Amino acid sequence: MKKFLKYLLIAVGGIILILGSVALYINMSGLPTYDTPKIDLKVEVTPQRVERGRKIANMLCRNCHQNPITKQLTGNLMVDLPKEFGDIHSRNITQHPTKGIGSWTDGEIAYLLRTGIRRNGRYAPPYMIKLPRVPDEDIYSIIAYLRSDDPTVKAADVDNIEPKESFLTKILCRVVFKPFEYPQQKIAVPDTNNKYEYGKYLSNDLLGCYECHSADFKTMDDHFPEKSEGYFGGGNAMVDYNQRIIYTSNITPDKATGIGNWTEADFIRTMRTGFNPQGKPLRYPMLTEADLTDNDLSALYAFIKTVPAINHQVPTSVLFDAASDKTEGQKIFHKYSCQSCHGESGAGFANLTQANIKYPTNDILKDVIQHPKNYLGESTKMLTWAGVIKDEEFEPLCNYVRELGKKYNK
Ligand code: HEC
Ligand code: HEC
Ligand code: HEC
Repeated sequence: MKKFLKYLLIAVGGIILILGSVALYINMSGLPTYDTPKIDLKVEVTPQRVERGRKIANMLCRNCHQNPITKQLTGNLMVDLPKEFGDIHSRNITQHPTKGIGSWTDGEIAYLLRTGIRRNGRYAPPYMIKLPRVPDEDIYSIIAYLRSDDPTVKAADVDNIEPKESFLTKILCRVVFKPFEYPQQKIAVPDTNNKYEYGKYLSNDLLGCYECHSADFKTMDDHFPEKSEGYFGGGNAMVDYNQRIIYTSNITPDKATGIGNWTEADFIRTMRTGFNPQGKPLRYPMLTEADLTDNDLSALYAFIKTVPAINHQVPTSVLFDAASDKTEGQKIFHKYSCQSCHGESGAGFANLTQANIKYPTNDILKDVIQHPKNYLGESTKMLTWAGVIKDEEFEPLCNYVRELGKKYNK
């Protein structure tokens, strides 16, 4: 008996030693690397492609790569990435030859966007998107935009901040997440008149609605989206700019817990304005996209209507601590979820810490908040608050915005 116990102890000790060495190895060697075959590709930069690429970048790349201070794609801290993945910055993808991707070939960019493998062979973890199923023309358009004279991609001499991946990220990238295959055949552009097919392409291949709106990133099937657990049923726990949990909505056609009672007009209005039919502002990371046309939104609606209804009541997301509100202005800032995009400091995904300087009187500042498109352009993701925020709320709210600016610029 004693002998058996001794053998058992030795065996357990051995296993622990092996596991420990494997863990140490993974932690030291970091993310997996793969071969990078040479992809023969030279994308012709046409105005149509640049325009299409700019739209795609507005909806995808800029949310992560645009720095709110430089206003260029020079990289940004992934503040809304759960801390257990590490301390991660997106990268400088402007045309700078060494700090950006100015010296990458078109083939190298396409290979990364399709498979997730970078030029140096290192795997880009799930926090960098992959586009394995979009039409070739979309990939070409993104590349054309990255090569264009758009001010957001002009060579910027800004250093990258190297990522500090956690052990969890490293192990997940070796065990769970694998690169996609580079497509062997050309992928054609879907027929924009076939609402089902076109809506499916937008939501599952290009914009990734299903990713956020399914149950969990860990149980999402990115090869066969419809096999994802809780497909469109919501409840995926994301974190906002203040590291508070925000659950995604159930957008299946379930009448009780999803959006089964919404008309197409309700859906389009919500996606355009950022306010749902109950008048509730949609909080970060759910953003309005001015680049989606009525036809795009109508197709998205038609497709989402065909998804199986799931009865799933998503928990309420509590995004601030009301008890700690110090001033009337802070209360109003929270009431309308301004902090969800701007962060508690004013410098989150979007930055309002310069508003104090740019808009010298509260009358102007009020007008900016009410009609931001007039100041920031048609494609801004800032919501139009005219008719939502009460007149008497503006004075304290504007004062609070100024306070944040003063604190930040001190
Ligand atoms: C959800 C956030 C997110 C989105 C959306 C996103 N990226 Fe990234 N991207 C990242 C992060 C984070 C990294 C750094 C990955 C790393 O360090 O391993 C990265 C890395 C890259 C790199 C590699 C640069 C280098 O120096 O190795 C390129 C190129 C790139 N992204 C281009 C794009 C383009 C083009 C788009 C839009 C089609 C896009 N990204 C969308 C977060 C994102
Ligand atoms: C980055 C993650 C993310 C992506 C991508 C995303 N959503 Fe959302 N969506 C959310 C979150 C989080 C909420 C909840 C917002 C809230 O509670 O304020 C939400 C809310 C919504 C709502 C409001 C539902 C309601 O009952 O008020 C609709 C509609 C919606 N999303 C549709 C879409 C569509 C269509 C797409 C693709 C074009 C999409 N979303 C892409 C995260 C995302
Ligand atoms: C859905 C996200 C979102 C929400 C919610 C939001 N904003 Fe914004 N806001 C933005 C974006 C994006 C910008 C544009 C930033 C830029 O262009 O640099 C912006 C810009 C601004 C600006 C102008 C900043 C400048 O430098 O010109 C002010 C002021 C502002 N927001 C105030 C508010 C207030 C007050 C609230 C709450 C009532 C609010 N925002 C809610 C996204 C949001």
